[in-house]
Amino acid sequence: SSNYRIAVIPGDGIGVEVMPEGLRALDAACKRFGIGLEYEYIEWASCAYYARHGQMMPDDWKAQLERCDAILFGAVGWPATVPDHISLWGSLLKFRREFDQYVNLRPARLFDGVPSPLAGRRAGDIDFWIVRENTEGEYSSVGGVMFEGTEREFVVQESIFTRHGSERVLKFAFDLAQRRARKTLTVATKSNGIAISMPWWDNCATRIAAQYPDVAWDKQHIDILCARFVLSPDRFDVVVATNLFGDILSDLGPACTGTIGLAPSANLDPERRFPSLFEPVHGSAPDIAGKNVANPIAMIWSAAMMLDFLGHGAGAERAAHDAILAAIEATLKQGPHTADLGGKASTTEIGRAIAERIAG
Ligand code: NAD
Ligand code: IPM
Ligand code: MN
Repeated sequence: SSNYRIAVIPGDGIGVEVMPEGLRALDAACKRFGIGLEYEYIEWASCAYYARHGQMMPDDWKAQLERCDAILFGAVGWPATVPDHISLWGSLLKFRREFDQYVNLRPARLFDGVPSPLAGRRAGDIDFWIVRENTEGEYSSVGGVMFEGTEREFVVQESIFTRHGSERVLKFAFDLAQRRARKTLTVATKSNGIAISMPWWDNCATRIAAQYPDVAWDKQHIDILCARFVLSPDRFDVVVATNLFGDILSDLGPACTGTIGLAPSANLDPERRFPSLFEPVHGSAPDIAGKNVANPIAMIWSAAMMLDFLGHGAGAERAAHDAILAAIEATLKQGPHTADLGGKASTTEIGRAIAERIAG
């Protein structure tokens, strides 16, 4: 098998605690399946680095990361010392934008042994993918505050949806739906209220859908879509959304599966011009940081998604991905569990339990 160079960025808070467990799982899987990984440990893209240097990253960050095949990322943000928009636009959001990682792929899956907060839902009842547009839309840098400090003060921030950016993420979602058993796609919209950009987005979806006659698709307004995540999550297979709607849905979906501490994500440049980035959906969780109680499974699953992407969904990398997922499933079923799942196990204990199961 191949050798890959991985940029390892723990970041802040629980990012620093879950990252070693992600690496522990990777090491076990790569040893078992003969995959060579070389880690480049990076201490920047953290608020600790900001405290020393007055910026989140060195000026040559892009060149350093471009030398790597993928980026494994913990979480960034420490709002007590650095405002979130500074730390996030100084790191993660810059990676997504500059490396054109236009797909943020986020699963929601209910596992055996994990109770859902939704009554009567069992393992298998929730199993869908959220495809989030990841480079434009509501997360634009166009706008500003005017007449600051006067009575005429106002703020404008534009949302920008390009035809290229919308069509490519919709295509990715239709492709994914087409490869799934149920071949069903839901397009999140708000074309009743946001009457310029969202009808236009709907038209993009209709145009792309014509290329996928075998995919059953519909569009749903974001408000009722949120309600249906809670009331009938079993109806979803693949859900595609603009940047902000996708952000919200990808905390709501995993919350319906018991905890956001499980949810991984893949920030993909599907064309592989740039390194893709793999990270938990959750953040740095300052409220539980430093206690060794965070659930490391989102991080471990993200590492598995990284291997699968590197191996193009096949080969030793696919086998390693599957072994990590199987170990996660077994650990969720049999325990131990972290506090977010009602257990008492530490971050380290869960990481060790999973790594042992991976090793076989
Ligand atoms: P958060 O995801 O960090 O935490 C939300 C809640 O979920 C907290 O109560 C936390 O304890 C809990 N939680 C999160 N991950 C958990 C885990 N693995 N195990 C157990 N419990 C877990 O969101 P927040 O509080 O809105 O943000 C905190 C900081 O993280 C902010 O600076 C924010 O900007 C940043 N953030 C970063 C990312 C990222 O790096 N991708 C994502 C979200 C938030
Ligand atoms: C996520 C996070 C980020 C986002 C924040 C930290 C900027 O919530 O990855 O979901 O909004 O994309
Ligand atoms: Mn989010």
